[in-house]
Amino acid sequence: MLTHTKLKKMKEAKDPIVMLTAYDYPTAKLAESSGVDMILVGDSLGMVVLGYESTIPVTVDDMIHHGKAVRRGAKETYMVVDMPFMSYHASLSETMENARRIMQETGAQSLKLEGAGDVLPVMNKLTMAGVPVVAHLGLTPQSVNVLGGYRVQGKDIEAAEALMEDAKQVEKNGAIALVLECVPKQLGALIQEELSIPVIGIGAGEGTDGQVLVFHDVVEFGVDRLPKFVKSYADLNGSITNALSTYVQDVKNKSFPTNDHSFQMKEELIPSLYG
Ligand code: KIV
Ligand code: NA
Repeated sequence: MLTHTKLKKMKEAKDPIVMLTAYDYPTAKLAESSGVDMILVGDSLGMVVLGYESTIPVTVDDMIHHGKAVRRGAKETYMVVDMPFMSYHASLSETMENARRIMQETGAQSLKLEGAGDVLPVMNKLTMAGVPVVAHLGLTPQSVNVLGGYRVQGKDIEAAEALMEDAKQVEKNGAIALVLECVPKQLGALIQEELSIPVIGIGAGEGTDGQVLVFHDVVEFGVDRLPKFVKSYADLNGSITNALSTYVQDVKNKSFPTNDHSFQMKEELIPSLYG
């Protein structure tokens, strides 16, 4: 099993870190057998597999439900689970209880938290309690209603400097890695250079220590619009729709099932069957 010590060595060796989301048993199995370094049980599951408009409705119970399924499918892969909306912002005891449940019930190696500021002391406390924290900066989808939409972050110098400062702060407060979402590639590369923890980018260019994408985007499954930063590697929407419409036609025109897909009773029993 990968550890964050090994992840740091990968950064030092300039060995790119590959992270992919997974939300259930079959996708976790496929991710593990394809050789991804880290699986992220992202709260993007709210949008991708539960059909919500944003990640805001996702609960701690949702994350545990999906995290457990992923763990069953990928027992040997480093697994990060997102702490969902508002599960680490109320009292410290509530935050610690949520983190305890997610760690113990899913078997995650670390938990991911969005933002800096008030979240920094939380990162510290979790780390002290033995919960490794992955930070998430840049476009932080749980704050979509504060950010005013899903858009590229850190585009002007002031915003870029603020983001750099946040990145340094999450490292200082114990984060073992940083997910950096939707920033100009020049800023992605600079943050990668300034930090000693691995920076895993999504829409942050080629200069980060690793890349993360959403499973359903990578294979175009269930999603009908891909963000600019996604490269599509398969068209599951197309192949699944073909398969399913052929199945529908086959049943409608009675070309399925045939004897090939049927069970037979012994010839001599048939007369008694009709009694
Ligand atoms: O929830 C998620 O899938 C994420 C990635 C996009 C980084 O947080
Ligand atoms: Na997320």
